[in-house]
Amino acid sequence: MALVNGNYLKLPEYFFFNDLEGKINAYKLLHPEAKLIRMGRGDVSQAIPEEAAKAMADAAKEMGVLETFRGYGPETGYKFLKDKIIKFDYNAYGIQLEQDEVFVSDGSKSDVGNIGHIFGRDNIIAITDPVYPVYENAAIMGGRSGHLADDGLWSNIVYLGCTAENGFKPALPQDHVDIIYLCYPNNPTGIALTKAELKKWVDYALDNQAIIIFDGAYCAYIREKDIPHSIYEIKGAKKCAIEIRSYSKTGGFTGLRCSYTIVPHELMGSTETGEDVEVNKLWNRRATTYYNGTSYIVQRGAEALYSKKGREQCRALTDYYLENCKIIRDEMTACGFEVYGGVNAPHLWIKTPGGRSSWRFFQEMLYELGVVCTPGAGFGNLGEGYFRFTGFNQREAILEAMERIRNWKGY
Ligand code: MLT
Repeated sequence: MALVNGNYLKLPEYFFFNDLEGKINAYKLLHPEAKLIRMGRGDVSQAIPEEAAKAMADAAKEMGVLETFRGYGPETGYKFLKDKIIKFDYNAYGIQLEQDEVFVSDGSKSDVGNIGHIFGRDNIIAITDPVYPVYENAAIMGGRSGHLADDGLWSNIVYLGCTAENGFKPALPQDHVDIIYLCYPNNPTGIALTKAELKKWVDYALDNQAIIIFDGAYCAYIREKDIPHSIYEIKGAKKCAIEIRSYSKTGGFTGLRCSYTIVPHELMGSTETGEDVEVNKLWNRRATTYYNGTSYIVQRGAEALYSKKGREQCRALTDYYLENCKIIRDEMTACGFEVYGGVNAPHLWIKTPGGRSSWRFFQEMLYELGVVCTPGAGFGNLGEGYFRFTGFNQREAILEAMERIRNWKGY
């Protein structure tokens, strides 16, 4: 019989968000009449910018005409989109990139998982706690996690604690690590790092020959000054960082799938015998072998997000979700909750009242109010005692959820 990858068996059968969905579906079966308000999973609720919809409709027409039909595109993305990425997402911040340092893909979740393929199994991985669970799951599936200890932590993963005491900004690792996953503005805490704070991580990585995998999926939500949109705004970062970006939360592309990953030529890894290897070449090899490119139509849609109107429409979208966050923050604070985030990110990290466990609070809120949050424990040990709201629902739904919470005797 064929052997399976036993690392998968170290994980629960269902991924956290699917497990959560199962619990929500169970509630819906029991209460088919209930008007559920979802503020849990970070899925968007507004239509995509009109410019992107128009560009995709035009691209679909091109595909139906012999003269303009296209088959396989370049695996790492069309030049027309890479040009816009370089100009608007990097040159605008004083960063220069080559076309072949940009890899267009079908979602940052896929790239966050897949990037592990190009790194050796013996690397020590560091992740924050709480954390977007894909980083930890990928380390487990890739055989890098070691064993699960009694404290619920994996023996070969270094956990960087984010607590209210440190402002949810982790301290540098005490011991050497090889690969560090950082997500800022952060999911789930909604906290952003300043340039000076991110510089400490870049300096650590340079000093320790570590690589940072920087998940910048929420950079379109940055509103305060002095918060870097890209890790490459920090001197030396091209020598130590890969950056992953997504159009899901920038242009409402969760259902369309488009993202990109930057792997600078300057970034080096090492062979077992100590020779330097350009990481870009490995990622290019992987992309061209395992991927046939993001759909032409979707890439045209992403390109349109960079037009003048497209940028205005993206800004209006993210402003709308951030205004939702402000409403949630103000209302929840007025109700006596301890609330973090939601200023430079679409996530709010909130302490459960009365020291209740996050799963218990999730169930209570679901069954007593019909409001869905994400229990913090799903993001790691230090997520216990917290829950996450996102600002992605429609305004009316957010207002109604706040009203239900205000009138709730249960918290
Ligand atoms: C979340 O709720 O954290 C999101 O669904 C993350 C994602 O984009 O996969």
